[in-house]
Amino acid sequence: MAVERTLSIIKPGAVAKNLIGKIITRFEEEGLRIIAARMVHLTPEQAGAFYEVHRERPFYAELVKYMTESPIITLVLEGENAIARNRQLMGATDPSKALPGTIRGDFAVSVTRNTVHGSDAPETAATEIAFFFSQADLISAR
Ligand code: CMP
Repeated sequence: MAVERTLSIIKPGAVAKNLIGKIITRFEEEGLRIIAARMVHLTPEQAGAFYEVHRERPFYAELVKYMTESPIITLVLEGENAIARNRQLMGATDPSKALPGTIRGDFAVSVTRNTVHGSDAPETAATEIAFFFSQADLISAR
């Protein structure tokens, strides 16, 4: 299995509810390493660009509005099979389908306000990491 990197976002609602520590603990207890972290308050232009792939979807405007309402935490997680392991920890996109014990199953309130984002494949992980971080920001030699 390959060592991978993936982008995680702790979304506005979760940051506002003081859930940063609880969510990061799940990543660390799973053995994923945080190799970059930053708090960002996205502009509508930035949120729109990040979710460009969803531009034509009916939920796009609501998603951009939510992602800009208050700050987010952006993280790069590293580990063996990190992309799938992070998605397992997150649970299903729609919290009504997410299992108890997953981050979304435990904390999400709706499909828009679904607590966290995680990259879904190596190509998207590379693009999404580069959206928020430069190579110099990624500190993996520990
Ligand atoms: P995320 O993992 O950040 O990736 C895209 C986001 O779009 C997703 O989480 C949800 O917050 C949102 N999303 C996906 N599908 C829907 C939907 N059917 N209705 C509303 N929001 C959605």
